[in-house]
Amino acid sequence: MSAKSLVSISDYSKEQILRILDLATGFEACPNQRILEGKVAATLFFEPSTRTRLSFETAVNRLGGKVIGFSDAATSSSTKGETLKDTIKMVSNYADIIIMRHYLEGAARYASQVTDIPIVNAGDGANQHPSQTLLDLYSIRKTQGRLEGLNIALVGDLKYGRTVHSLLMAMKHFPSTFYFVAPEELAMPAEYKQFCRDNGIKWHETSVFSQEIINQADIIYMTRVQKERFTDLVEYERVKNAFILRNNMLDNSRDNLKILHPLPRVNEIAQDVDDNPKAYYFQQARNGLYVRQAIISSLLDLV
Ligand code: CP
Repeated sequence: MSAKSLVSISDYSKEQILRILDLATGFEACPNQRILEGKVAATLFFEPSTRTRLSFETAVNRLGGKVIGFSDAATSSSTKGETLKDTIKMVSNYADIIIMRHYLEGAARYASQVTDIPIVNAGDGANQHPSQTLLDLYSIRKTQGRLEGLNIALVGDLKYGRTVHSLLMAMKHFPSTFYFVAPEELAMPAEYKQFCRDNGIKWHETSVFSQEIINQADIIYMTRVQKERFTDLVEYERVKNAFILRNNMLDNSRDNLKILHPLPRVNEIAQDVDDNPKAYYFQQARNGLYVRQAIISSLLDLV
C-alpha cells in the first residue's frame, strides 16, 4: 500500500494543505522547471474531463516529466473485463505516480491499497475531488487574502457535487460561515451536515438563492447540476435550471466578492457574468496548474 497518496482531502492536515498552497505560489511564479525529469505520470480517466486531466498533464510537462494514460476507458483493456486492481498493478509497472478519475466512489482509495506508487484521486463518483479543493482554497486565499472568517455560498447541486463535499471537509481547518443553497432534491447530504456539526462549521440552508445571500457573500461557489449522476432524467429536467446567476444580481454585492465554479458550466452562470471582475472561474482553473504541480512534486518527494 502506498504511504503517500491524495485520495481524500481529509488525508491532509492543515499544515499539509497550507504547504501545498505555498508550493503552488512558487510554481505560479516559476511554472517551468525540470524537477520531474526522468519521471512518468499516468493519467487514467474512466470518466470525461477537460480541466483536471489537461492541467495535471500540463503540470507534468512543464516540470519536465512524461505522461502516459488514457482519457477514454473504452480504449483500455477494462472493456475486455480487466479489473481495476489489475489495471492499477499494470500501470504501476510503468509509471511513478497515477492520477485517476473513476465513476465509482471509493475507487481511488481501493487503487491506493493495491499499489505502492502514489495515487491522486481526480474525482471518484459523487464522493471527493481533493485536487480541486486545493485549487479552490488557493483561489480563495489569493483573492481574499485569508481562508478564515468568510461568508461562502455553495449554490446548485450540493447532493452530487463532489467538489463542494471536498471543500467543506477542508474548511474544518479554516472557520467560515457557509450558506447551502440548493433545490430540496439536491440538498447537501445529511452526512456532510453532520460533519459540519461535528467540526464546528457554521452553516445555513435554503432553497432560495436570495439577493440577501448574494449581497453578504465573500465567495459564491456555483456548481453544475450533475446530469450524469441522475437515474431519473425527468427529475434532472425539473431541477437543471433551478439557479442561474446573472450579472445584474451582483449590483449590490461586496467589492471583494469572487464567483467561483469548478467548471464545466452549463446554464448556472449567465454569459454576461464573465466580463464582471468578480467572475474568477477561469483564473481558478488556471490556478489548478500550479496547485497540481505542487501536489505531484510533493507526493514524489521532489520539493
Ligand atoms: N473541475 C473539473 O473537474 O473539471 P473537469 O471535469 O473538466 O476535469
